[in-house]
Amino acid sequence: MIMTLFFIVFFLIKFLQKENTKLAKTRHKKLPPGRRGWPLIGDSFNWYNAVASSHPPTFVEQQVKRFGKIFSCSLFGKWAVVSADPSFNRFVMQNEGKLFKSSYPKSFRDLVGKNGVITVQGEQQRKLHGIASNMMRLEKLKFHFLEDIQRVMTRTLCSFEDDQLILLQDVCRKVAINLMVNQLLGITSESEINEMAHLFSDFVDGCLSVPINLPGCPYHTAMKAREKIIKKINRTIKMYREEGSLEVSNGVLARLLEEESLPDEAVADFIINLLFAGNETTAKTMLFAVYFLTQCPTALKQLLDEQESLKSCSNGEEMLTWQDYKAMSFTQCVIDESLRLGGIAIWLMREAIEDVKYQDYVIPKGCFVVPFLSAVHLDENVYNGALNFNPWRWMDPQNEEKRNWRNSPFYAPFGGGARFCPGAELARLQIALFLRSFVTTYRWTQTKEDRMSFFPSARLVNGFQIRLTRRHMQDEG
Ligand code: HEM
Ligand SMILES: *[C@@H]1O[C@H](CO)[C@@H](O)[C@H](O)[C@H]1NC(C)=O
Ligand SMILES: *[C@@H]1O[C@H](CO)[C@@H](O)[C@H](O)[C@H]1NC(C)=O
Repeated sequence: MIMTLFFIVFFLIKFLQKENTKLAKTRHKKLPPGRRGWPLIGDSFNWYNAVASSHPPTFVEQQVKRFGKIFSCSLFGKWAVVSADPSFNRFVMQNEGKLFKSSYPKSFRDLVGKNGVITVQGEQQRKLHGIASNMMRLEKLKFHFLEDIQRVMTRTLCSFEDDQLILLQDVCRKVAINLMVNQLLGITSESEINEMAHLFSDFVDGCLSVPINLPGCPYHTAMKAREKIIKKINRTIKMYREEGSLEVSNGVLARLLEEESLPDEAVADFIINLLFAGNETTAKTMLFAVYFLTQCPTALKQLLDEQESLKSCSNGEEMLTWQDYKAMSFTQCVIDESLRLGGIAIWLMREAIEDVKYQDYVIPKGCFVVPFLSAVHLDENVYNGALNFNPWRWMDPQNEEKRNWRNSPFYAPFGGGARFCPGAELARLQIALFLRSFVTTYRWTQTKEDRMSFFPSARLVNGFQIRLTRRHMQDEG
């Protein structure tokens, strides 16, 4: 979703700006091959059409056929080097802060906060990234997140009636925002979660909008929501400073205050950045996983069997243990396959810090560089039957190396290098527990056609309308 936001904002604003003159001069150097497209607009419309469709790499694939896996085109009023090349994508991610930096419009930086990990660069980014990774690393999840996630899941997901018609997209949205508020702020009371979730929603809607800071505009509402969120965080900080501890000590905020020494004004931005990066990505991956499972009953059956088998081995206790989580091997395959086929981060956005030489090419300073992840994830030469949902492919020993989402050039749903998603393990835990709750509580039938689109944000265009029936324990074999 981050990527989509940039696209919108860049698209609306950047292409009106004049072209970087230095770039124009260096263009005759060996920029990767490509075409210029229409003046100003360049290939932006083709890009848009592809991304709004259910197969985002369409445009990239066409260009790859003509020009090769690394090509240039004119996007957002600027030259961009776009890549469907696994090694080059990896090279770009590995050289974050050295040859490339991630690139954001100012309006976006103002909203998510200029002290947050997403927008800062260099030294400061590495420090904040380290803190974020530490807060959400695997060992911490066991102690601080496992049970809370299950509680939130039960509360937000398990009370629908027999025969109820729902839009699963809205439900996932609610689940994800509740999880984020609970985990970042450590809030557990339902009314407080709802209040914060509401503020957070206003905030994110504004991030998706045209940045006009006038009353009535979503951007303005978002700025106001941002202020209220910061006030709430400030109050928590004050309480902590006065009393030396907090009643709710599970949240990232509390641990941040206890274990790290960030200046107070950086704390709020830090939290807001995590919220921003984690909310929609998680919600949409949950949604897409159920969407794919609905089309693949064999996988759904196997997932359900796996989850049912876990329930009996946890001795009738309600809560799953860490061991249970570690035993969900097929569920993990489903998550990996959902991220491959419906990865939310379809591309990353970078800018060259200096003239960069790669093979025979020179990428001039200031040029956009776009590692197009989904073009690799959906490449028939990399994955057999690349467009099919096939979670079993990840059980094949041949794919073991490919599957390593921390390092694999062929599979990078969480990015890589210095900006590798620090929430990856947390997201996977949330998605697994969501799938578990959902498939063991309900059966469902889809009541309306649907398809994926990745513009303006990743979604199912009709919200995934389904009719639920509750599963009853006794009619399961
Ligand atoms: C399925 C869910 C998720 C996916 C697919 C995902 C994907 C990504 C990707 C691809 C990046 C790299 C962006 C870039 O290089 O420009 C990223 C960065 C980030 N993610 Fe996630 N993410 C997910 C969930 C989360 C969660 C749950 C959190 C935290 C609560 C989170 C926090 C972050 C942060 C803070 C960054 C920025 C890191 C930096 O710039 O140093 N993500 N994510
Ligand atoms: C979370 O994401 C949903 C879209 O899935 C969006 O509508 C909502 O406003 C977001 N809220 C926050 C706080 O990020
Ligand atoms: C929150 O606290 C920080 C640091 O003490 C301060 O700079 C900021 O103005 C406060 N913001 C609000 C909205 O209260």
